[in-house]
Amino acid sequence: MIIETIDYNKGMVVIIDQTLLPNNEKFLNLRTLNEVAEAIRSLRVRGAPAIGIAASYGMLLHLDTMLRTESVDNPEYIFDREVGIKPFSFPDISIDEIRNCLWEAKKRLEVTRPTAINLFYALERMLSVFDTEEEDPRRLCELVAREAFSIHAEELETEIKIGENGARYIKDGMNILTHCNAGGLATAGYGTALAVLYTAKKEGKEFLVYADETRPLFQGARLTAWELEKNGIDVSVLCDNAAASLFAAGKVDLVIVGADRIASNGDVANKIGTLGLAILCKAYSKPLYVAAPLSTFDINIADGNDIPIEQRSGGEISYFGKRRIVPENVNIYNPGFDVTPAEYISSIITEKGVIENPGRGKIASFIRD
Ligand code: MRU
Repeated sequence: MIIETIDYNKGMVVIIDQTLLPNNEKFLNLRTLNEVAEAIRSLRVRGAPAIGIAASYGMLLHLDTMLRTESVDNPEYIFDREVGIKPFSFPDISIDEIRNCLWEAKKRLEVTRPTAINLFYALERMLSVFDTEEEDPRRLCELVAREAFSIHAEELETEIKIGENGARYIKDGMNILTHCNAGGLATAGYGTALAVLYTAKKEGKEFLVYADETRPLFQGARLTAWELEKNGIDVSVLCDNAAASLFAAGKVDLVIVGADRIASNGDVANKIGTLGLAILCKAYSKPLYVAAPLSTFDINIADGNDIPIEQRSGGEISYFGKRRIVPENVNIYNPGFDVTPAEYISSIITEKGVIENPGRGKIASFIRD
C-alpha cells in the first residue's frame, strides 16, 4: 500500500500531519512557503526523502503564489500534480523575478533541518532549471513545476527498486529490528527500509518486526507501528533501551534502517540511536542493512565527522506530553541523529543495487559505473 504522505494539489502542498499520528489521520493544506517550512521544521512532514519532496513543493508553491498574485485572471491555483498547469494569463514577469522568487524560497527552506541531504538535493534540482537557458518565462515556470513533480515520481520508483533489491535479505521466520521510521511516511509513499519489508511480504515471506519506539519523538512507536500494522505486518514496539535485551534473547536476526546522509566513505547519519544498534549488531554478529536512495549519498563529504547533526530543542526531552519530567535548570543533550561508521554496516541497499561492506572505493565506483 502506498501511503499518501505528500501531494501538490491545486496550488497547495498537502501532507498528512505526522505529529498527530497514530490517533488522528489529519491532512493539512499548506498554502504558503512559511507553512511548508514550519511543517518540515516541526516534523509534520519528516524522513529524508519526504523532506526533499516537501522542499521542492515549497519552492513550487512560492512560485504558484507569485504567479497567482500577478496574473490578471486571479486564478485559484496554477499548478497541480494531476492536471499539471492550469491555463491562465501569464503575468508580465521576467526570468530574474522567477529566479529571485525561487532563491527566496530556497533560503527559507534550507535552514529548516540540516542533516538530511535530500533537502539540499531537492533544492538544487529545482534551481537546475536555470541551467537549461530557457528564455521564455512561461516555459521556465512549466519546467520548474515539471522538476518538482519528477522529484516526487522518481522517488517513488526508486523506493520500489530499493524494495526489490533488498527483499532477498528477508527470510521466512526472521525477527527484524528497525529504528525510527523509514517507511511510506518518510518518503514518497513506499519507504526505504520498510520498502524492503513490504516487498518481502508481497513475495509471501512471513516474519516478525520489532520497532524501537525512537525517543524523544516516537517515530517508531507512532509511525512505523502504524504503517506496518496497516500493511498487515506483525509488529511489536519496544523501548529503545530494551534493544540489547532483545539481542541477548536471540530475537534479532537482522537490523534494517534508513539514512539521512551517507558520506563518501560509507559512514551513515540516521536517527539518534542507530549507532547503538550498530554496536549491538557487531557484538552479536548480526547484519546491519541500510536502505537509502542514491540521492542520500553526499560525495562531497569525506566521512561522518563532516555531517551536520541537528540539535533539537531540550523541551522534547524535558517534557513528556504536557508534564515536565526533568528538573528545571538541568541541561539537555538532544542530538537528532548519530553517525554509524561504515565498518559497522553490512550492506547499503539502493535503487541501483547493493553495496556490500561499503567503503570509499566501492562507493565511488558504484555511483560512477
Ligand atoms: O527526524 P526524522 O523523523 O526526520 O528522522 C528520520 C530518520 O532518521 C529516518 O530513518 C531517515 O530519514 C530515513 S527515511 C527513509
